[in-house]
Amino acid sequence: MMILLILLLLCLSIASLYYYLWFHLGWGSLFSEESIQPPRPLVTDKRTRDKVLKQGFSQDKIPANLDALIIGSGVGGLSAAVALAKAGKKVLVLEQHDQAGGSCHTFQEHGYEFDVGLHYVGQMHEGGMFRVIMDQLTDGQLQWNRLGDQYDSVIIGHKVYKVYAGKHEFPDALKKQFPGEEEAIDKFVSLMKKVARHVPLLAALKIIPQFIALFILKTGLLHRLSPVFHLTESRHQDVVEKLTSNKDLQTVFSYLFYGVPPNDSSFMINALLLHHYKRGAWYPRGGSSEIAFHMIPVVERAGGAVLVNASVTRILLNKGRATGVAVQRKDKEICIYAPVVISDAGIFNTYGQLLPPEVRIKPEVESLLSNLQYGMGCFLVFVGIRGTSDELGLQSTNLWIYSESDLNSMMEKCKSMEWEEICQELPLMFITFPSAKDPTYSQRHPGHSCMTLLTMAPYDWFQQWSGQKPRHRGDEYQRMKMKLAEHMVERAIKEFPQLQNKIDYMEAATPVSNEHYLRAPKGSMYGAEQNCSRYQCEIVSKMRSQTVVPGLYLTGQDVFSSGVAGAVHGGLLCASASPYISSYYYI
Ligand SMILES: Cc1cc2nc3c(=O)[nH]c(=O)nc-3n(C[C@H](O)[C@H](O)[C@H](O)COP(=O)(O)OP(=O)(O)OC[C@H]3O[C@@H](n4cnc5c(N)ncnc54)[C@H](O)[C@@H]3O)c2cc1C
Ligand SMILES: *[C@@H]1O[C@H](CO)[C@@H](O)[C@H](O)[C@H]1NC(C)=O
Ligand SMILES: *[C@@H]1O[C@H](CO)[C@@H](O)[C@H](O)[C@H]1NC(C)=O
Ligand SMILES: *[C@@H]1O[C@H](CO)[C@@H](O)[C@H](O)[C@H]1NC(C)=O
Repeated sequence: MMILLILLLLCLSIASLYYYLWFHLGWGSLFSEESIQPPRPLVTDKRTRDKVLKQGFSQDKIPANLDALIIGSGVGGLSAAVALAKAGKKVLVLEQHDQAGGSCHTFQEHGYEFDVGLHYVGQMHEGGMFRVIMDQLTDGQLQWNRLGDQYDSVIIGHKVYKVYAGKHEFPDALKKQFPGEEEAIDKFVSLMKKVARHVPLLAALKIIPQFIALFILKTGLLHRLSPVFHLTESRHQDVVEKLTSNKDLQTVFSYLFYGVPPNDSSFMINALLLHHYKRGAWYPRGGSSEIAFHMIPVVERAGGAVLVNASVTRILLNKGRATGVAVQRKDKEICIYAPVVISDAGIFNTYGQLLPPEVRIKPEVESLLSNLQYGMGCFLVFVGIRGTSDELGLQSTNLWIYSESDLNSMMEKCKSMEWEEICQELPLMFITFPSAKDPTYSQRHPGHSCMTLLTMAPYDWFQQWSGQKPRHRGDEYQRMKMKLAEHMVERAIKEFPQLQNKIDYMEAATPVSNEHYLRAPKGSMYGAEQNCSRYQCEIVSKMRSQTVVPGLYLTGQDVFSSGVAGAVHGGLLCASASPYISSYYYI
């Protein structure tokens, strides 16, 4: 028994060491110091950018002798593409939208530029592991601006709590704001560290053969190896209730909200999120489209391409093996073949839309999917403001506004509300000023600044317009969304009265917009719901890059976790699961 335990520990440690070296130290011949070039000047010319981000699909642009096909150009698809390109592989990335980047694309309207789904990213300090990875994936071209130390404010009712970055500043600032809670804060920080240190072991569950992972889990050995497995399966609420009875502090421990209330979220994910920003929060210099803009050339250099307006309708199978994909063109399909197919379209689209029903009804697929559900949708308001961020005194701090400290009942309310009610009583809202996070914004868009507002929104509020084209959804849709948008802007002006009469442009996006532009199933914001069910160790191990279809791999936010960092790790896990890199590495 003892020998078995030691052997298993060894096996997990090797897998996690492998993961650690690979991902965190940029070790090995794929990633090298030499590939990092000094950053070239920011490219602002739209035509030059479009040449990279908007390469339209046509048959003559398909490279010959492809090594891999990737469905979707989100950061999950592109990071897998870059890793394979660095191993010398020729990869074709196919994107259904008219530009690359997925949730990290941006759009321009009336002289303003707006981000779709990147507000801030952590662990970008020099030498930090995620920084090393991003530098490697973009050849050192992507630069990051650090937000101010006080990167977030959490507003609960009328009370304001300030969250500071910094190893010591984070707990110290909380202790000042929650006197008497010093012990709870220290304990939380120590659990947070434990989770962050041991999380590679969790990733190892996705790397080692699944039968071994399930065996150590079923025999109860897993939980003896590290506390991270238990903290992953534990509900956030149950862990923090043991630390403190202060409701506001409990809320601050889980304020980075992704739609799952504390009584159904994994403690590990919430702790990891706070840890993610512990050293600071960063924003890409030049806006979030810079990520794709600097990843695509690496793919192209290896002979690959990233083509847009290329909607994949199905994954082609031959004797049960993935052999290629079909792309929809007006009235015909174009079939493209490659020995490896990778999907960044998310687990629901991949099994539900892209594969034939006989795959979906396989018992192992049905059982995995039954443990997952569609994530919550969001409602976004994009606001263009006259005046620069400096002139208006806008800061890089983000605001999280909650009407109450009980996030469980808040979320319950949000789910069951009729949409009219939310226009009277907004349960939660997030406010951010992308223009204040990026000094180049005022160079790129002189005299302008912008604000993004976000709240959670159930899909069924707007479901009746699903499948209809943007700007063709009729007056009722427009009226509904602008009513909520105006209500949210009014609420934001209460926090920032200087914006009164400065608002120049307003647009709103619903879960149906997300469904259209990102193919997000049911408009979900972060892929498959990250509730406790997804983070049971058995599901963690089964949600891996390999699929039941030989030759088909998953990448992106459904592999490990959501967020830019989550999707990039998904991409690297995917690349290392593919035949190209693991063989390369295990030698
Ligand atoms: C409003 C919002 C705010 C966010 N804020 C942050 C933040 O502050 N920090 C952070 O770290 N993360 C944030 N995120 C999350 C982060 O952006 C995502 O988790 C991450 O970018 C997901 O990357 P992905 O590659 O997995 O998926 P996606 O970016 O969704 O990419 C999937 C791509 O696949 C394409 N596709 C799908 N089906 C097909 C098909 N059949 N054929 C061709 N192409 C297809 C889609 O068009 C899309 O481009 C935010 C997300 C949202 C929505
Ligand atoms: C993509 O398709 C849209 C709509 O058909 C078209 O307007 C756009 O020019 C296309 N983009 C590219 C790069 O081909
Ligand atoms: C979490 O997701 C699973 C899978 O769909 C579901 O069975 C479970 O009820 C969810 N939890 C809650 C509280 O919704
Ligand atoms: C979480 O709390 C809400 C509100 O109290 C409740 O309705 C819901 O059922 C709870 N969910 C779980 C998984 O306990």
